[in-house]
Amino acid sequence: EPLAIGVVYMKFFVDTADVAEIKDLAASGLLDGVTTNPSLIHKSGRQMLDVIKEICAIVPGPVSAETVATDHKTMLEEGRKLAKLAKNVAVKVPLTPDGLKTCKALAAEGTMVNVTLCFSAAQALLAAKAGASFISPFVGRLDDIGQDGMHLIEEIMTIYRQYPHFKTEVLVASVRHTMHVVQAAKLGAHVATVPPNVLRQLFKHTLTDNGLKAFLDDWAKTGQQNAKAAATMTPTKQRQWKFWTDWQAWLQAKGSSIKPHKALPQHWNTMALGRSGTRLEATVNSRESRIGMEVYIDHEHSKAMFKQ
Ligand code: E4P
Repeated sequence: EPLAIGVVYMKFFVDTADVAEIKDLAASGLLDGVTTNPSLIHKSGRQMLDVIKEICAIVPGPVSAETVATDHKTMLEEGRKLAKLAKNVAVKVPLTPDGLKTCKALAAEGTMVNVTLCFSAAQALLAAKAGASFISPFVGRLDDIGQDGMHLIEEIMTIYRQYPHFKTEVLVASVRHTMHVVQAAKLGAHVATVPPNVLRQLFKHTLTDNGLKAFLDDWAKTGQQNAKAAATMTPTKQRQWKFWTDWQAWLQAKGSSIKPHKALPQHWNTMALGRSGTRLEATVNSRESRIGMEVYIDHEHSKAMFKQ
């Protein structure tokens, strides 16, 4: 069933005010926005207005900045001030009567509003009626007190789907682990705001790491080079090899601990690299009588590679 607001994929926001983390995660190309709250601003140790402005310049998507006033009038002034910081600010207001009133007023002015601290389906219904761009149900905090956070998401999604004119996106907040994200996606939630460590965890699987290692080990045994490595190598067809000055310096630094590259063809059972004056000498014992080879100097990785 299509979502009311025509979202075609689930968005990932990061729940932090740490600019270094945001930059790092934005580089993945998979970050759609950022959420902050007063506790996260406190943790950053920075001035709120400065940090929000900086985050807005890093991430083009919505950046939630939370109000701290509790009465409508002051909250509205605060929200307007935050909205002026950048076009992509989403003003965060608490799910209180004053918060919802402020939401309605800011939404009417064209400002994105994220209604936060939502713990019930009834509250989510009110936020949608108040024209919120986002409703933030806190799943982890519900789990913490023995209630099912994801059940709340299911309820809200069911309600919002009944009313296609609702423009509010369900932003799953207080995410504690990757299963929360997967369950949110199964329910068709529009957004999940995820702490940086959990966001990184989404990429990981031990079998991926083990499988990649096994593939790379086998690849190394083939003695073939990938396209990039080949491009950075300087081929020479000499049997006795002279090397560049930087190569000699590297040898001096390494002394006698020079090792041939791992990708030595299988039938070369021994190989020694040594120095003679300014020259690097290689001695190869091969099971084959004919040794026609090329030497490749990998400047980038300071390695000598040989192939027939
Ligand atoms: C959401 O916008 C909140 O900042 C956040 O998800 C709260 O998470 P917590 O329960 O881990 O503090």
